Amino acid sequence: MTAWNPDAVRLRRMTVADLDGVLAVERRAFSAPWSRQAFLSELVDNHFARYIVMEYEGRIIGYAGVWLIVDEGHVTNIAVDPDFQGRHLGDKLMRALITMCIAHRARRMTLEVRVSNTKAQNLYKKYGFVGVGIRKGYYTDNLEDALIMWADLPPAGWDVETWVWAETRAEARADTLCDARADVRGGRERSNAHLGD
Ligand SMILES: CC(C)(COP(=O)(O)OP(=O)(O)OC[C@H]1O[C@@H](n2cnc3c(N)ncnc32)[C@H](O)[C@@H]1OP(=O)(O)O)[C@@H](O)C(=O)NCCC(=O)NCCS
Repeated sequence: MTAWNPDAVRLRRMTVADLDGVLAVERRAFSAPWSRQAFLSELVDNHFARYIVMEYEGRIIGYAGVWLIVDEGHVTNIAVDPDFQGRHLGDKLMRALITMCIAHRARRMTLEVRVSNTKAQNLYKKYGFVGVGIRKGYYTDNLEDALIMWADLPPAGWDVETWVWAETRAEARADTLCDARADVRGGRERSNAHLGD
């Protein structure tokens, strides 16, 4: 492979012709990979499903999918080839899914993730997903529990960058407020303590 060039990474809609490349990544990325038939029926039969692939120098190196149902986006799958992980390509796929959901006027997104998969959970948390519950024994290969995560989306017209920026600002403001309240409380306690002296 030539020197890594992130500008050469492309995203596009997945087609049936991509399935060999997608399955190669799927088998390398997951301990219990989806079958060709599972992908095929998503692409051909499931009208709620939207899948994208990520290409680099003619090779499929990642993909992601979502079901768009009324005002919700349900993330079904996301993977980056292990050779390419840790280069913010998971971020890129996640942003693409969120952009697609916002464009379809989804108001919320949800997903399930293995409780042991902290890498993926960290990725989701970056985009506002929070854990809301557990599905016991959800994964049939080892009966591992799934963490159910949800995120609220901004209204149509917002882009992911603006949204992440606004969320981060809101969190920072909340932290500052908490700090300020703690300072005020601390000050009051200190001054009360002083009064009581
Ligand atoms: C989960 C996955 C899609 C992430 O893709 P990636 O390209 O490796 O991740 P990125 O480089 O885009 O990192 C995005 C964020 O993920 C988290 N992350 C990535 N690698 C991590 C690691 N080794 N440890 C902890 N968190 C990690 C971080 O929050 C990171 O953001 P930061 O670098 O700003 O802190 C990828 O690791 C993967 O395909 N895993 C196997 C399949 C899978 O588990 N899919 C999810 C099923 S629910």
